[in-house]
Amino acid sequence: MTDLAASRRVHISLTYGASDFRQFLWVKGDTLQLQRVMANLLTNAINHSPRGERVEVILEPSSSHQTVKVTDNGAGIKPNELPHLFERFYQGQSDRQAKGSGLGLYLSRQIVEAHGGTIWAENRQPTGATFAFRLPTLPYNSSYSA
Ligand SMILES: Nc1ncnc2c1ncn2[C@@H]1O[C@H](COP(=O)(O)OP(=O)(O)O)[C@@H](O)[C@H]1O
Ligand SMILES: [Mg+2]
Repeated sequence: MTDLAASRRVHISLTYGASDFRQFLWVKGDTLQLQRVMANLLTNAINHSPRGERVEVILEPSSSHQTVKVTDNGAGIKPNELPHLFERFYQGQSDRQAKGSGLGLYLSRQIVEAHGGTIWAENRQPTGATFAFRLPTLPYNSSYSA
């Protein structure tokens, strides 16, 4: 997403939760579909970011779940919109730079739930939104057999 980010003058950073160490999150899933989820969340975050602001991707590993958070410093989500964000064709009235189809979050939820995970949105203080999903951790001993 670096081209889109650059064209909007938005910086993307990647952090690994509370740890200084670079860690990998292992899940069992469909690479292409999970890339789609990341692309949808990042596109939204970039399009809702003011110029010069930062979009942060935060990876939070735990023994049972792997969590990915995408945060921005945009206007955030109005309380009346929160329950509808993941509905099919839902598009809010926000001041974003570019409109999609209203399917991005709907499809992201379908994909995450098909992987046994959950996806959610919350506002940040003082401004901005976090969209996050978590997937069950791949058990260590089943990580590779081929
Ligand atoms: N990062 C964000 N900040 C604020 N609102 C958001 C953000 N991402 C999504 N939304 C809201 O959720 C709605 C649905 O998102 P999405 O399904 O990706 O559709 P689209 O991007 O085509 O509008 C958006 O129209 C917008 O109102
Ligand atoms: Mg979208």
